[in-house]
Amino acid sequence: MKPKKANETCAIATHLVLPNDTNFHNTLFGGKLMAWIDIIASISARRHCNREVVTASINHISFDKPIKMGDTVTLEAKVSRAFTSSMEIFVDVYVEDFSGDRVKANEAITTFVAIDQRGRTIEVPQVEPETEEEKTRFEGALRRKQLSLILAKKMEPNDASELKALFLGK
Ligand SMILES: CC(C)(COP(=O)(O)OP(=O)(O)OC[C@H]1O[C@@H](n2cnc3c(N)ncnc32)[C@H](O)[C@@H]1OP(=O)(O)O)[C@@H](O)C(=O)NCCC(=O)NCCS
Repeated sequence: MKPKKANETCAIATHLVLPNDTNFHNTLFGGKLMAWIDIIASISARRHCNREVVTASINHISFDKPIKMGDTVTLEAKVSRAFTSSMEIFVDVYVEDFSGDRVKANEAITTFVAIDQRGRTIEVPQVEPETEEEKTRFEGALRRKQLSLILAKKMEPNDASELKALFLGK
């Protein structure tokens, strides 16, 4: 299967934060942002494998800055690495206020799995990272996968070669 460049998997969505999207602090409701993250990450994953995908795990999500009503929110998703049937997708969230200043507000890391018409997992193409950031994210993806599998009780800590190398130098 022909590998794909990470940049070919890029998916971008821009939203204006409306009253219905906010909580009682007048900032963007976290659950709303999580839904936007899930959708844009799935589009990136589909762009990578050209198959149906399902969310296997939300590995990490950080709410670093509150996003206010009226702000413009841009989500940029890209597949950082693909394994056999699973893909890790990074979503960077940027916020732009009335002044036009754009800052990074949040980051999420998700795992999607490609499935066939019967819901069985299927193989996906590998990712070719090009930029320094893509290479850094590619290199860290296996240890994040192993950590996620351990937390989901789908892997024994003893089998996590990358994590052992990181923490124990083995
Ligand atoms: C995700 C799902 C397809 C995995 O199926 P499964 O029978 O557990 O299949 P496997 O154990 O072979 O896992 C498939 C891949 O997902 C990875 N995976 C599974 N759970 C994971 C987790 N928590 N974190 C990271 N990767 C995970 C596996 O490592 C494997 O990767 P690889 O093929 O690249 O090596 C299945 O659990 C499922 O359908 N879950 C429900 C999905 C859903 O409803 N999502 C929300 C709506 S889209």
